[in-house]
Amino acid sequence: MKRLSFSIILILLIIAASNAPHAKVTGMCSNCHTMHNSQGGASMATYGGFGDAPFSSLVRGNCLGCHGQASDGSEYVTLGTQKIPQVYHATGGTDLAAGNFKHITTDDTYGHNVDFLGNAEGVLTSGPPGDENSTGITTDLTCAGTKGCHGDRGTAGNFDSIKGAHHDGVSGLCDTADTVANSYRFLKGVKGHENMDATYPWQNKDSTIHNEYYGASSKGTESDKTTAGGNTISGLCAECHGNFHGPGLDDITSDAASPWLRHPTDIVLTNSGEYTAYTTYSIVAPVARSTVYGTINTADPNAVVASGTDIIMCLSCHGAHATANYKLMRWNNKANMTGCVVCHTSKQ
Ligand code: HEC
Ligand code: HEC
Ligand code: HEC
Ligand code: HEC
Ligand code: HEC
Repeated sequence: MKRLSFSIILILLIIAASNAPHAKVTGMCSNCHTMHNSQGGASMATYGGFGDAPFSSLVRGNCLGCHGQASDGSEYVTLGTQKIPQVYHATGGTDLAAGNFKHITTDDTYGHNVDFLGNAEGVLTSGPPGDENSTGITTDLTCAGTKGCHGDRGTAGNFDSIKGAHHDGVSGLCDTADTVANSYRFLKGVKGHENMDATYPWQNKDSTIHNEYYGASSKGTESDKTTAGGNTISGLCAECHGNFHGPGLDDITSDAASPWLRHPTDIVLTNSGEYTAYTTYSIVAPVARSTVYGTINTADPNAVVASGTDIIMCLSCHGAHATANYKLMRWNNKANMTGCVVCHTSKQ
């Protein structure tokens, strides 16, 4: 009897596991790969409609081909039982946590103009604003590699820099971050806990179902051109926008406290005054943590914000890919103060 119920539990676990996202691909090789890129004389590498050239690693589309192939507003496309997160799809539906590149077609300032989009940046043509590290990136921003955000930023090329990660991705908790596969969202060096909820994976849905970001209480080792200093998400942004990162700005050498010259990031949410009234995690203005939680999507502790330990990050105000707002903001900062007053609770 014991053995029977054990087997039943095991089977249930296997079923549950096969339906949940893994941060590691599953399914038939031919769903994603083509050996000669030819079947009946026609190309097989046509996912997303972004060209039909043979692509590196024998895949059936480029990064956007797989991740931008929803023909409607869906945030997922499925190949068999495998969900593919969509980051470029019609607006009006649900956008995944990093946002939706489609918003760029409304306004250039709404996001990062990655080259695959075929919609080159028209204003910021001389490089990332605040580029302390002289990256040399102008209008040739890519998904991954030395000119992009994902993968190993020390290696050139989308597929070279991410090689193997799709088959080796760790599930959820990324607290080592010394390879591409074990880093948060294949962003080498960044720690965090990926929301892999069975129904709402890759989303920041509400105060309990959301990604957990890692932050630092001081920027510590500053990021360089290819390495996120301190393993934080803000450290990643600082690889290209270093001057906007935390205290110790380029134009001040010693002052690292209020009154500030630029809005602080990678500092703890002050444990006094108005900040102590931010107590429930907000997906409008989220915070990072000094320790990556081992479990998420439970009411406690990840729905709770603690001033004195939780951390302001670039993503407290910005999205990562593109949002529906000017300068990639999480809310319409020109029309309302929704996000500012999540923290500055007395400034309404
Ligand atoms: C053949 C289709 C395909 C191609 C091409 C592809 N991906 Fe993916 N990608 C997937 C699937 C499927 C997943 C989801 C895996 C899972 O269940 O977690 C994924 C997941 C991801 C994730 C999220 C990983 C996580 O931690 O949740 C990132 C980031 C990513 N891909 C980036 C890229 C980049 C960059 C490229 C181009 C170099 C690329 N992908 C090319 C199919 C593809
Ligand atoms: C859901 C999509 C998906 C499925 C299914 C899939 N792959 Fe991949 N595979 C990818 C993507 C995307 C890449 C390129 C990005 C990367 O390397 O992470 C890749 C890369 C590879 C690579 C080169 C990188 C490495 O690890 O050496 C090999 C080899 C490979 N796949 C073999 C297979 C085989 C064999 C199968 C079936 C048993 C398979 N794949 C099934 C998406 C998939
Ligand atoms: C690999 C370099 C790189 C990284 C890493 C990077 N950015 Fe950028 N960013 C750029 C470039 C290049 C531009 C200007 C071109 C554009 O907007 O497409 C830019 C523009 C921006 C803009 C202005 C958008 C506009 O069009 O007006 C914002 C806001 C921004 N980045 C925020 C962030 C945040 C937040 C992060 C971290 C999640 C980040 N960036 C990480 C390269 C980068
Ligand atoms: C995630 C929480 C958070 C969000 C969101 C946030 N702030 Fe702040 N802000 C802080 C904290 C904490 C400080 C530093 C307070 C200190 O050092 O005493 C700060 C500092 C400031 C300062 C400088 C105060 C000084 O002492 O020099 C200004 C001005 C400011 N914020 C305005 C804004 C505006 C405007 C927005 C919306 C666009 C915003 N903040 C969004 C938490 C936040
Ligand atoms: C408190 C909210 C807040 C935080 C935190 C924040 N930003 Fe911004 N960011 C803004 C706003 C608002 C703008 C619009 C311009 C302005 O008000 O200065 C902006 C503009 C930008 C721009 C565009 C500048 C240009 O010249 O067009 C970049 C790039 C940027 N932020 C990157 C970052 C990075 C990187 C971080 C983290 C190190 C960060 N931001 C943290 C609110 C924030």
